[in-house]
Formats: sequence, C-alpha cells, structure tokens
Amino acid sequence: MDDIAYYIGIISGTSMDGIDCVAIKLQNQKLELLASHSSKYPEDLRQQLFSICTNPSISLLQFGRLNVAVGKVFGKTINTLLSANHLNPKMIAAIGSHGQTIFHSPGYPDAFSLQIGDPNTIASLTGITTIADFRQRDVSVGGQGAPLAPLFHQYFFYNKDLTRCILNIGGMSNITWITRNPDSTPVGFDTGPGNALMDLWVSRWKDKPFDAGGEWASSGNVHAALLDRFLEEAYFQKSAPKSTGRELFNQNWLDQCLADFDSIAPTDVQRTLLELTARSVTEAIAQTSPTESDSGKELLVCGGGVYNNLLMSRLQQLLPAFEVKSTAAYGMPPDWIEASTFAWLASKTINKEKIDTGILTGACQPVVLGGVYYS
Ligand SMILES: Nc1ncnc2c1ncn2[C@@H]1O[C@H](COP(=O)(O)OP(=O)(O)O)[C@@H](O)[C@H]1O
Ligand SMILES: [Mg+2]
Repeated sequence: MDDIAYYIGIISGTSMDGIDCVAIKLQNQKLELLASHSSKYPEDLRQQLFSICTNPSISLLQFGRLNVAVGKVFGKTINTLLSANHLNPKMIAAIGSHGQTIFHSPGYPDAFSLQIGDPNTIASLTGITTIADFRQRDVSVGGQGAPLAPLFHQYFFYNKDLTRCILNIGGMSNITWITRNPDSTPVGFDTGPGNALMDLWVSRWKDKPFDAGGEWASSGNVHAALLDRFLEEAYFQKSAPKSTGRELFNQNWLDQCLADFDSIAPTDVQRTLLELTARSVTEAIAQTSPTESDSGKELLVCGGGVYNNLLMSRLQQLLPAFEVKSTAAYGMPPDWIEASTFAWLASKTINKEKIDTGILTGACQPVVLGGVYYS
C-alpha cells in the first residue's frame, strides 16, 4: 500500500523579506510540492526583529510579546495557504516551523541558536501538530544547529552522474556538496554573506528593500582595496563546520570596513558587496570541491539571490567548470527550498527518525530534531 502523508513547512530567513510556507505531499519518500504562499511581517514587527539582531538587548516583556506576535503571523500564513488551496487541516500530519532566527551563537561553551515564533500559538491557530526548535536540539548535542538544509539538498538533488553543488543565496549564503557516491553524507556550510549586506546598503541610499536584478550594482565598479578589506574577515578562513548570520555580517561590520577608506561612491560600494558575495562563495567552492571528474559539474542556485542577474553572471564567470543554473531547472522553484526543507524534516520528527548531522554541524550524536506541540 502507498505510504502518503502531507506536511507544511514554514520559515522566515535572515532577510526577513517574507514568511515562506509550503504544503508538500510525501508518497513513498517522493516529494511533491502542492502549494506555496508567502506573506509579509507588519512593518513595525519587522523593524523590531531587525533591530534586535544588531542590538540584542531586549526586555523579557518585549521578548515574550515578539515570540507570540511572530507565532501569530506564522499561524495566519499557514491558514491562508490552507484556505486558498482548499486543503483541510485534518489531512496535514504536521507543520515544520523553523521560526525566525533572532540570534545564532554557535560558539561553545555557551552556544545557542534562538528561533522565535511560539509553536503553541501556531498549533492552536491552525489545529495542526507543530514541530519547532530544530536547531536548538542539534546545539544541545554539540552541533552548531546549522546548516540543516544540506540534508534536504542531498535527498532532493542527488544524481549518480553529476557532482552537484547547491548554493542558497538568502541573507547569508550556504553551499552543499552532493557527490556521485550515494552513501556519502553531504558536506555543507555557510560561506558568509549573501544578500544581507547588499540589502542594507541599497536601502540606506535608495529607499528600496533590495537591488532588483543587481541593476544598481551594475552601474558601479569593484573597489579592489575595499574588496580585500572585506575578504580579510577571519570567518572566510575558518574551516567547516561553520555557520554565520546577521550577528556578524551586519551594519556595524560594514561600517567598520568602510571606516578604513575615504568616501567611496555608493554604487561602487554596492558593486563591491556583490563581488564579496561572488568571491567568498566561489572561493569556498574551489577550496572544498570534491575530487570527482571535472565534467558534469553543476552549481544549482536557490534563494532570492538567484534573481540578481549580475551576481549569477559573476558566479558563472568565476566558475567556468560548472554549469550555473537555478534549481527550477530540476523542478524545485528556488524560493521554496527552505520551507520544503522544514516540511520534510517534520516528517522525520513525526517518524522519530534520528538524524546524523555530525559532518554538517559538528553534533556528536544523531538525534530526533525538533520539539512536538500536538494539535
Ligand atoms: N529580483 C531580485 N533581484 C535581486 N535580488 C533579489 C530579487 N528578489 C529577491 N532578491 C534578494 O533575495 C532576498 C531574499 O532571499 P531569501 O532567499 O528569501 O532570503 P532569506 O532566506 O534570508 O529570507 C531579498 O532580500 C533580496 O536581497
Ligand atoms: Mg526570505
């Protein structure tokens, strides 16, 4: 008999540009994306979330309220997805909710990774069993709590004839290597910034949330000394497992780098930030490339950075041995991979499957990820 189950996945990434939500069908381990929906935070909530990532001093009262407020937005987003697609909550086995990361601090001995969006609120608003806190469980067994997406990348994109690198360009960027060996565990880590610094800079000068298509950056030139200054950041030299976020690559980081220079034209800064993403990603790829045949190498790109045409063309120029494409080429729209990851991880939690994240996060034992809040 066919084994069929339905799950929902929901996440808001470091860019906080939208809450992404999917419904998936898993039939005999095969995934089908049934529906997707994205909603926005109310602007004042988004501003509060942004500001605590850079200045993480916050009162207990503020924290408690934010946690529930994010949970409510997540719950409403899920309900909209269900009603718009005529999906009955009763058919959904579970929601995998990543939540909103507000602070990721993977350094031991006091490591933690904090995602908010109260799962009690989500379970009550939707009537669906909700799973949350995937990362914190990994941290509790010595892992960094990130990255988790490589597990899904391996499941969805493995191909016996191709060496694939999956590149997610969200606020930060992360890569996953998927070799032709079906038994190898995926290798993946955060390479550093993705869109976050470019978003910060363009919104400072142009009152736009992002540089559509990389158009504004295209009008500037790379400032070689500034690029070198950016690339001096110690994070780029660290070896994996490693993960990062807005706690490091934020406004303060950018201002400190710029302080070493006389004023640089804003368009040149934007172009140099784009080059920083391109160079840090491609250098990480070159340094960690598995020793498999040079033919049939693909770089599959997902996350909002896939819409930055200049960034995509720089990646292709810097990696001539790879064919650079959007994950859409293989039936997975680049905007929905992260939400699908948490829907898929929810199925693992429901089935009490222990997951070995050791090579990805440094965790010392396999664990069932996530906490369950029953409907
Ligand atoms: N048309 C576009 N052109 C350039 N960049 C874009 C475009 N659309 C989205 N982006 C970038 O993608 C980001 C969102 O990517 P996303 O994968 O959702 O990141 P996160 O996981 O951090 O939320 C936006 O903040 C923006 O920088
Ligand atoms: Mg996003």
